Amino acid sequence: MSKTLPGSCTVEDALPLAIPDRGSKPRNWGLLLTSVIGGSLVALYAVTTPFIAPALRKHCLPFVPATSKQMEYVLKMLKGRHGSLVDVGSGDGRIVIAAAKVGFRAVGYELNPWLVWYSRYQAMREGVHQNAKFYISDLWKVNFSQYKNVVIFGVPQMMLPLGEKLGEELQQDARVIACRFPFPHWSPTHTFGEGMDTVWAYDSESFGRKKGNGSVEISGVLPD
Ligand SMILES: C[S@@+](CC[C@H](N)C(=O)[O-])C[C@H]1O[C@@H](n2cnc3c(N)ncnc32)[C@H](O)[C@@H]1O
Repeated sequence: MSKTLPGSCTVEDALPLAIPDRGSKPRNWGLLLTSVIGGSLVALYAVTTPFIAPALRKHCLPFVPATSKQMEYVLKMLKGRHGSLVDVGSGDGRIVIAAAKVGFRAVGYELNPWLVWYSRYQAMREGVHQNAKFYISDLWKVNFSQYKNVVIFGVPQMMLPLGEKLGEELQQDARVIACRFPFPHWSPTHTFGEGMDTVWAYDSESFGRKKGNGSVEISGVLPD
């Protein structure tokens, strides 16, 4: 039976239904800890997944930045060249930024958004953001016909299909530069370095599709 207090209020009305006991404090800490761990795991997942995802694709191409020797040889292979340049899978943007610094209109296509944001930041810091552009794109979906200079640091299993794609798309005056792994079906015009730092350059006589009469057939429209 509930007692009636002055003003016809019951004991249950006047008193809180549950009085917090000592046990509730650890439960709050537990909740906080769960949130912190959960949040950290989500953040870790968001940061690491773009780095792992390229390795799980049909053509596994992980992020391995070009060495300083590779960079040096790539720039050597670009001596006397000008105009547009693309780095296919541009990583942290080092090749695109280096090319922009020596006057190329350089572009990088990269699957990993973190690397693209980092590259844009670096290009800004280095003062070449006007000539160094980065896009979050799958290299297999990009048409490379507008580029006169193509740089690729790939993996062996992708070089044959990539070579076929480039052979279909590139213009007659384009140059392709491969770092560490060569195109198995092309003969290079120049080679620099040795071992892991080797860099190969290919001109249209390597990657153009040979017609019956021995001349080189290049597909695509030649822009100005
Ligand atoms: C070996 S790293 C080369 C990075 C850079 N070109 C360099 O030489 O420092 C290859 C890059 O390609 C990216 N990648 C992998 N698969 C890709 C795809 N399908 N489309 C675009 N980029 C891709 C990876 O995330 C990685 O950053």
